[in-house]
Amino acid sequence: MSGKVFLVGAGPGDPELITVRGLRVLREADVVVYDRLVHPALVDEAPAGAERVYAGKHPGGLRTSQEQIVQVLVDRARRGLRVVRLKGGDPFVFGRGGEEVEALREAGVPYEVVPGVTAAVAVPAAAQIPVTHRERASAFAVVTGHACEASPGVDWSALVRVPTLVVLMGLRRLPQVVDQLLAAGAEPDTPVAMVARGTLPDQRVVVATLGTVVEDVQRAGLQPPATLVVGRVVQLAREAGAWGPTGFAAGRA
Ligand SMILES: C[S@@+](CC[C@H](N)C(=O)[O-])C[C@H]1O[C@@H](n2cnc3c(N)ncnc32)[C@H](O)[C@@H]1O
Repeated sequence: MSGKVFLVGAGPGDPELITVRGLRVLREADVVVYDRLVHPALVDEAPAGAERVYAGKHPGGLRTSQEQIVQVLVDRARRGLRVVRLKGGDPFVFGRGGEEVEALREAGVPYEVVPGVTAAVAVPAAAQIPVTHRERASAFAVVTGHACEASPGVDWSALVRVPTLVVLMGLRRLPQVVDQLLAAGAEPDTPVAMVARGTLPDQRVVVATLGTVVEDVQRAGLQPPATLVVGRVVQLAREAGAWGPTGFAAGRA
C-alpha cells in the first residue's frame, strides 16, 4: 500500500491565508513536515495524533538537510501514510518544492502539489501595494536577495527595467541589493518599501527611496521575514499595517 505526499503552500503568514484544499489535506494528515515560516496555528490544524516533523533551521543552528527531509517524506509515504509537506507561501517560489517533487518522482512516490498564496504578491498587497497597476507597472519580477552571492549570473540591468521588482530574502543583504540596483542604473529616488512580517498582526512597513532605504530600515530595526518592493507602485503603500491590529485583523468577523 502506498501513501501520498501533499506539497502544500501555507501562505504568507496569517494562518487564514492557506487555501481551502490545503487546510483540508492538512486536517487529514498522518504526518506533517513543516518549515520555519509556517504559522504554528496551522501545524495545530493537523490531527492531534499526527506525527509532526520540524524541517526548518534552528536559530543559530543546523538546517535539516534536503536529503533528510526527502527521506522522511519517502519513508512515511511508503508506510502508507498521508504526508503533508507544509511550506511557507507557495511551494514552488524559492521553496525548493521543485527539488522535492523530483526526488518523489525518482522514488516512485505519489504526490500532489497544492499551490499557496506567495509572499511575493501577498506581502506587498498587505501593505496595500499592488504589484501591477494600469498606469504605474505593467510587469513585475521576483528575485531573491541571496542572488547577490549565490547566483552572480542574475542580470540586475535587466531587472531594473522591470517596473516592479520584489526581492525576497533581502533584509540581511539589503545594502548589496541596493548597490546592485544603483550600479545597474536605477535612480536613487526610486520608491521602495520594506514590509516585515507581512499579513501578521505585527506587520511593519518602511517606505523610503533606494537612496535612503538601508538607513531607514536599519533605524526602524525591522526583523525578518521581510520583503522589499521597488517601483512606482510603492507610492500607493500604506505605512500603517493594513493587516495589523488596527486593520484587517481587527476588522475580521
Ligand atoms: C525562502 S523564501 C520562501 C518564499 C515562499 N515560498 C513564498 O512563496 O512566499 C522566504 C522569504 O519570503 C519572504 N516572506 C515570507 N513570509 C513573509 C512575511 N510574512 N512578511 C514578509 N516577507 C515574507 C521573505 O523575503 C522571506 O525571506
